[in-house]
Amino acid sequence: MPDSRRPRRSLVAGNWKMNDPGAAGYVADLAGRLGNRSRNAQEADVWVCPPFTALADAVSAAGNSGIEIAAQNMHAEHSGAFTGEVSAPMLTALGVSGVILGHSERRELLGETDDALAAKLPAALASGLVPILCVGETEAEREDGNTERKLRHQLEADLKRVSGRQLPEVVVAYEPIWAIGTGKTATAQQTQDAISFVRSLLAARDAAAATQVRILYGGSVNADNAAELLALPDIDGALVGGASLDPGQFAQIVAAAGPGR
Ligand code: PGA
Repeated sequence: MPDSRRPRRSLVAGNWKMNDPGAAGYVADLAGRLGNRSRNAQEADVWVCPPFTALADAVSAAGNSGIEIAAQNMHAEHSGAFTGEVSAPMLTALGVSGVILGHSERRELLGETDDALAAKLPAALASGLVPILCVGETEAEREDGNTERKLRHQLEADLKRVSGRQLPEVVVAYEPIWAIGTGKTATAQQTQDAISFVRSLLAARDAAAATQVRILYGGSVNADNAAELLALPDIDGALVGGASLDPGQFAQIVAAAGPGR
């Protein structure tokens, strides 16, 4: 049983990006490896985040396994003339329970702006989707000593319409852009420093809420490095890209996460 004294339950989310390893087979395989236990019986929350086209299959394969299915993006409006977009109520109607917002690939390659994210965060929460907000610096920003400035800017701009009451529902993923898909991970010290800085920024907004916000690390997490990263004192889980495409490796990362803090 989850320990009710722990304010933050671990979360490991697998971001498939624009890949589909076969949602139904994958989710059934992963559920078997995790013991086919309900969410409450599992030590950590486990999310699978497929492309839109595989969400329905993933939800139906997840059934009562405790695995939750999340999307990789959404539009802030409920409906309307937004060709090619998908809204939060459309996702919840499918049985989707969360959404990744502000991934660096969307920001850098697909024109996602802080203004758009400032609208998407409250829209996700209002529909009952748990958002994972991704923040992180480029290699040049880190080398120039601008990591904290970037994190402060993104968190202030993207969360500006989220109230203190809603803040505990938000998950933040610290994803240094130079570590995504590169095989480079941030060092333990870099990760710890960034994550505690993120928590201090959240605490400046609402100290009580900040103790409940889950902060994940993302960037080249795999079965070999997960245990070391996930043992850091202030980290609440991982957002996993490439390594999540293999259910065996992803299950090992989940096992490394432990129950939470
Ligand atoms: P990666 O991706 O694990 O393949 O580096 C992480 C992410 O983009 O969230």
